[in-house]
Amino acid sequence: MKGIILAGGLGSRLYPLTHATNKHLLPIYDQPMIYYPIATLVNAGIDHIMIVTGGPHAGHFLRVLKNGNHLGIRHLEYAYQESEGGIAEALSLCREFAAGDDVCVILGDNTTDADISGDVESFTDGALLFLARVHDPERFGCPVFDPDDPSSIIEIQEKPSQPPSSYAVTGLYIYDNRVFDYIGRLSPSDRGELEITDVNNWYIRDRALRWTELDGHWSDAGTFESLYRAGRFWAERRAAGVQRADVFSTSET
Ligand code: G1P
Repeated sequence: MKGIILAGGLGSRLYPLTHATNKHLLPIYDQPMIYYPIATLVNAGIDHIMIVTGGPHAGHFLRVLKNGNHLGIRHLEYAYQESEGGIAEALSLCREFAAGDDVCVILGDNTTDADISGDVESFTDGALLFLARVHDPERFGCPVFDPDDPSSIIEIQEKPSQPPSSYAVTGLYIYDNRVFDYIGRLSPSDRGELEITDVNNWYIRDRALRWTELDGHWSDAGTFESLYRAGRFWAERRAAGVQRADVFSTSET
């Protein structure tokens, strides 16, 4: 399975910080934000990774990540997204990199301490979504469960004003290779983007979507509040004795 980290966008919700660098290179406690999704993939045994970025600070990634070997990445590629076309458009740039394989996709501002290696190993086909219980589901993709079978999702609503459940669809997904065909069928949403939620709804229509609850802490970090919350969580983890080596399978300085 290949790994894909989506780290584009202007990060305008974090202006003025993101005038200086790309959002995903801002610190979450003692590490650049993107180290956390890298750790999630590498610790799950995924060490062929493509990072999709864009915007004025794209070159900063090379300075920080270089070839990624010091973070446990064996093969690192970069793609450049020309415009703010959305998460699904960013993912479409990875078709050749995926080369027919399944892909584990994670948004570059998502941090979790969950171990997904079992899910990666047992994945066969379709899509697997990772959900997390949150107090503000209206900020996220939010699943509608089948009233007759709560283990099954019948729809995902993107940032609903009346959330149908207390779950967020986290920015962590495993897809089989048909994801690239689904993206080809999408048209832009009202905000002018190709939405990952529309991709997930195609999998639902084809009865090929499964979900699991992320077993651990999860936070995005795209707003000041969530950036602060994520930083505080990881600071507390370190204070409790969790060393960097537990976040990374190789030591990083
Ligand atoms: C994106 C997705 C949303 C998902 C969220 C997770 O939202 O569109 O479905 O729940 O990431 O972080 P964004 O943060 O880009 O607005």
